[in-house]
Amino acid sequence: MLSSTAVGFGPLTEVHAASASREWWRSAVIYQIYPRSFRDANGDGVGDLPGITAELHHIAELGVDAIWLSPFYASPQRDAGYDVSDYCDVDPLFGTLEDFDALSTAARSLGLRVIVDLVPNHCSSEHALFQAALAAGPGSAERDMFLFRDGRGEHGEFPPNNWESHFGGPAWTRVTEPDGTPGQWYAHLFDSTQPDFNWDNRAVAAEFERILRFWLERGVDGFRVDVAHSLVKAAGLPDWGGRADGASSPGFPGHLAPMFGQPGLKGVYRRWREVLAEYGADKILCAEANVDPLPRMAEWVASGQQHQAFNFRYLSAPFAPGPLRGVIDESLSAFDAVGAPTTWVLSNHDVVRHATRLGLTEGDLASGDGIGAGGPTPNVTLGRARARAASLFMLGLPGSAYLYQGEELGLVDNLDIAPHERQDPTFHRTGGERVGRDGCRVPLPWTSSGPAYGFSPSGASWLPQPGLWAELARDAQAADPASHLSLYREALGLRREHDLGAGSLAWADELSVGGVLAFVNGTILVMLNLGCAPVELPPGEVLASSAPVGNALGPGEAVWLRF
Ligand code: NOJ
Repeated sequence: MLSSTAVGFGPLTEVHAASASREWWRSAVIYQIYPRSFRDANGDGVGDLPGITAELHHIAELGVDAIWLSPFYASPQRDAGYDVSDYCDVDPLFGTLEDFDALSTAARSLGLRVIVDLVPNHCSSEHALFQAALAAGPGSAERDMFLFRDGRGEHGEFPPNNWESHFGGPAWTRVTEPDGTPGQWYAHLFDSTQPDFNWDNRAVAAEFERILRFWLERGVDGFRVDVAHSLVKAAGLPDWGGRADGASSPGFPGHLAPMFGQPGLKGVYRRWREVLAEYGADKILCAEANVDPLPRMAEWVASGQQHQAFNFRYLSAPFAPGPLRGVIDESLSAFDAVGAPTTWVLSNHDVVRHATRLGLTEGDLASGDGIGAGGPTPNVTLGRARARAASLFMLGLPGSAYLYQGEELGLVDNLDIAPHERQDPTFHRTGGERVGRDGCRVPLPWTSSGPAYGFSPSGASWLPQPGLWAELARDAQAADPASHLSLYREALGLRREHDLGAGSLAWADELSVGGVLAFVNGTILVMLNLGCAPVELPPGEVLASSAPVGNALGPGEAVWLRF
């Protein structure tokens, strides 16, 4: 870190220099569309591709650069589409390949790039390859596409190792062999309907190269890579002494687990990068790789590897000055060291929305868990106010930012989903002990009145929408300059105008006291007050603020000043 004196408000501690490389993804704001919950055109209660196409202009108007579509491929929908039975077709629930092409054309005409989800760790148990593996029996080439093993115990009655599924329960399921006898076990880091591929088998790599090319030929701009850190497993699939689902625990960092962060991953990514390059220099890979520490994650976005990785450390950092500054410094330093942009993210379809999280004044949340009856009760007003500040602060950071549909409306989780309405396999695999992720996946409100708040013409909705949607609907916010939506539009417009994504970061030392975080990016001063008392603002023109500001910034508020 360099220190230099500048500007009227004292010395600056420089952390990150403006980017000299101008590739679009280094500074892009990428908006995640969760197709099931975006907009339902055909009235069956589940969002679809024509619904997305119809409303895409709203997303373009917001001022983002690209959309990332969560899976819309053929799937039995046991894990909301992350259980793919045909990677090169659209599930009838969402439409057809022609609907995808229409969406893609519409996006391009609106100036939006399109990123699709790649799910290479596992497929659906209904995928033809897995069905063939079941039919072919032990020792076959078909079984070698997956992780089949004999069980432990005299009769093979125990799972081959102690790994657990992320959704709860063992990471192994025993099959009945074609001759009717109890047989081998197959590994699944997620639901039993999501068998893991064997990435040591070259035929698996070849199949995914085919899938990449299929979508690249249809013109996509890149792939978000699901559980990118888990494809390759340690030889021999050994037991693991840390948390059996491989998640980090004291003394057992996730990347040392036998099912995560294995060295063989780098060869996989290198090959994918070469394939992408054949289709143009601006196609990208973004790793969903929830491992620590950050420098380890950065190895996977070094030259020749993936382009970006989701910064889950930022998402899970406490809303407090020390931890937040710490993770920003560490992120910029780790990713700068390998020449990759840092990404920033606050919400997605797997976590409690940040407007809900930030409204919690007590209680802790584990990743992948939602809040249900009997859980902590968030203060919605506080959470939404803090979420405005958190988002404004994040959008001032240099690098690439990911937004999750509905956060621009300040949506909160629906905490009142009845057990029989819950769909997440986590809920069902843990007998309701973990409520899972349905709360953040509730269909969007487009209109404050009308069927399903404008989500579906029939009024159907695959998850119940809360009454609060009437107030938070897009049409109610569109014309209100004080709304959440207006703040996002304003911030995204200014971010683009001032090129903040490609910008720099230097902490304003004398302002970063008393719970305040203040940094300079170009000619903009970004301040977030995480202390308990209002702080005086330095001279400058207020460009955007999370709450009305005079000469002072209140607790839980953020501001952008031009100085
Ligand atoms: C991560 C995805 O984001 C999540 O929704 C899914 O359940 C798991 N990977 C398994 O694919």
